[in-house]
Amino acid sequence: MKDADFHARYGPWAVVAGGSDGLGAEFARQLAGRGLSLVLVARRTEPLTALASEIASRFAVETVPLSLDLADPRGLGALVEETERLDVGLLVCNGALSLIGPYLREAPSVHERLIDLNCRAPALLSLAFGARMQARGRGGIILVSSMAGFRGTALVSHYAASKAYVRVLAEGLWDELRPSGVDVLACCAGLTETPTFRSGSPRRPGWLALPVMGCESAVRQTLGALGRGPEIVPGRANRLASRLAALLPRRAGIALSGAGTRAMYPSVALGLRAPRKLPGRRRHEPFRDPGPD
Ligand SMILES: NC(=O)c1ccc[n+]([C@@H]2O[C@H](COP(=O)([O-])OP(=O)(O)OC[C@H]3O[C@@H](n4cnc5c(N)ncnc54)[C@H](OP(=O)(O)O)[C@@H]3O)[C@@H](O)[C@H]2O)c1
Repeated sequence: MKDADFHARYGPWAVVAGGSDGLGAEFARQLAGRGLSLVLVARRTEPLTALASEIASRFAVETVPLSLDLADPRGLGALVEETERLDVGLLVCNGALSLIGPYLREAPSVHERLIDLNCRAPALLSLAFGARMQARGRGGIILVSSMAGFRGTALVSHYAASKAYVRVLAEGLWDELRPSGVDVLACCAGLTETPTFRSGSPRRPGWLALPVMGCESAVRQTLGALGRGPEIVPGRANRLASRLAALLPRRAGIALSGAGTRAMYPSVALGLRAPRKLPGRRRHEPFRDPGPD
């Protein structure tokens, strides 16, 4: 789709929820490149304002940085309220909390926070912005899921389940909102080179052969897929891996995914390291994704 057509269909404003670094920042840059003005949301003010200034200096668009916590119902309320006067045509729900480690070892409050950020936020933001888009007869919603959402995976059980939630939500909304001109897409990303992915220092044993995509390509493919179907797995190798994995008996697929995660995070698997994250801490928790299989 040409930039002008993209802007006409999904502009003039986009909200990127979780939009200060990694994939979210790349969504912001590429959307600005297509002429969309941006509301950028994240908790930390500094990276947020730095990105907003960078974009304002490179592109002729407006940027509104909003520092708030999407896992907090008050944060979601503030985002909806702050954007009321803007003509928002695109929502990208990107921010997520990933937990790696034994499910039973985390406190209930950590699991609750994962549900709030990974499930509650996309559900309620899709509701609020989807209704506005339906009323204006056009728009788009991108929910960032993961290849981890294709099946249960040991050591990332809750993260994978939350990504399955997002994927299935997007699929249903794709069918439901299409007649009113609103395109919904699940982005089922594989391993992607982001600061928080790097900060997790995953091992990548040779037998796993997992490709790690760049953000530019993952986001370009995702934006290109909007309006063409309910989901995209960015990257040819990732698509092939997900198709092959789908041919496996469910039980074998789950075992293979779990073996992959254990190999990537051996110290966690052996109980030598249990990265624990305090709910509500300001610094973004390291992102750890198990990858495609
Ligand atoms: N990287 C991968 O390998 C990979 C693979 C598959 C799927 N994904 C998915 O892709 C998405 C982005 O991943 P990423 O690696 O780019 O993550 P990231 O770099 O950590 O980006 C997360 C963004 O969300 C913001 N954020 C996090 N928690 C927030 C909260 N509670 N409230 C508001 N903003 C919040 C962060 O800023 P603050 O910390 O300042 O809040 C940051 O801007 C996630 O949904 C992830 O599950 C990533």
